[in-house]
Amino acid sequence: MKKLNYYDNIAQIYDQTHWLTESVAEEVADFIIELTSATHETSFLEPGVGTGLNVLPLVRRGFSVTGIDISQEMLAQFRQKLQKTPPNLKLINGDASKLPFIDNSFDVVLTVHMIHAVSEWKTFLDEIQRVVKPQGFYLNCQWITPPARREFEGYFREILSKYEGYKQETKPVDTAIQDIDVEGYFQSKRYASNYFIVKEWTVNNTIKKLLGFFKSRAYGLCWLVSDEMFCQMMNEFEKFCVHHYGSLEKTLSSKAKFELWAYS
Ligand SMILES: C[S@@+](CC[C@H](N)C(=O)[O-])C[C@H]1O[C@@H](n2cnc3c(N)ncnc32)[C@H](O)[C@@H]1O
Repeated sequence: MKKLNYYDNIAQIYDQTHWLTESVAEEVADFIIELTSATHETSFLEPGVGTGLNVLPLVRRGFSVTGIDISQEMLAQFRQKLQKTPPNLKLINGDASKLPFIDNSFDVVLTVHMIHAVSEWKTFLDEIQRVVKPQGFYLNCQWITPPARREFEGYFREILSKYEGYKQETKPVDTAIQDIDVEGYFQSKRYASNYFIVKEWTVNNTIKKLLGFFKSRAYGLCWLVSDEMFCQMMNEFEKFCVHHYGSLEKTLSSKAKFELWAYS
């Protein structure tokens, strides 16, 4: 039986279907350490830590890291990357919109591609503001989908939109993402904000590989229709790809970006 949490379903393939490599994660960690002047006394919290892509380099370098995630399976993937959970890492299975910490607990709170996932973004930001120390930082980060992949996804969406139920279910999510105004929220609380492009790098994938990710339902979009309908629409999408790209062996190559807004 399928698990209720979408991330529980995709946890095993999450890392391979995203484009943040270990070496990019190391560079992002270097940037964060310098930006926040982190020392070994600095405590980090990542709500929605997932499989640990972002904080693993911090853990390996001995920083104190707490991760909280609603998906047991994503946390299990994180744990598998370490022979045993080291004393400087604490992983909690729970809902990040009710952070189980006292006020002013952390020097740095970071979220990466996560705020859109919580139901009440303002309540979530209230919680972050509550647990970050007065001299601390909140880092709101996201990786930007490479344009060639976004275009590929656009073709998938066009075909998906022909299948029953798609429009009705996705509209509120899209609307919710547009409504999220983290910058406005922290400005109203008189935080200083700074924007950085931490890293740009090239991502290469064959059409066949990308189709494979979609076939394995690696993205939220792929869970909007029934199994039977999904199979039907993937056949249609594959035919479209052969026709449009000329070959499934063709490589799509474009730049991904890791962006960061720092509030302090
Ligand atoms: C797109 S993934 C990002 C994971 C990780 N931050 C990264 O950059 O790879 C979103 C993560 O947020 C988690 N998540 C979603 N809603 C949550 C909530 N209310 N509380 C805690 N975690 C949540 C999901 O389980 C998933 O691991």
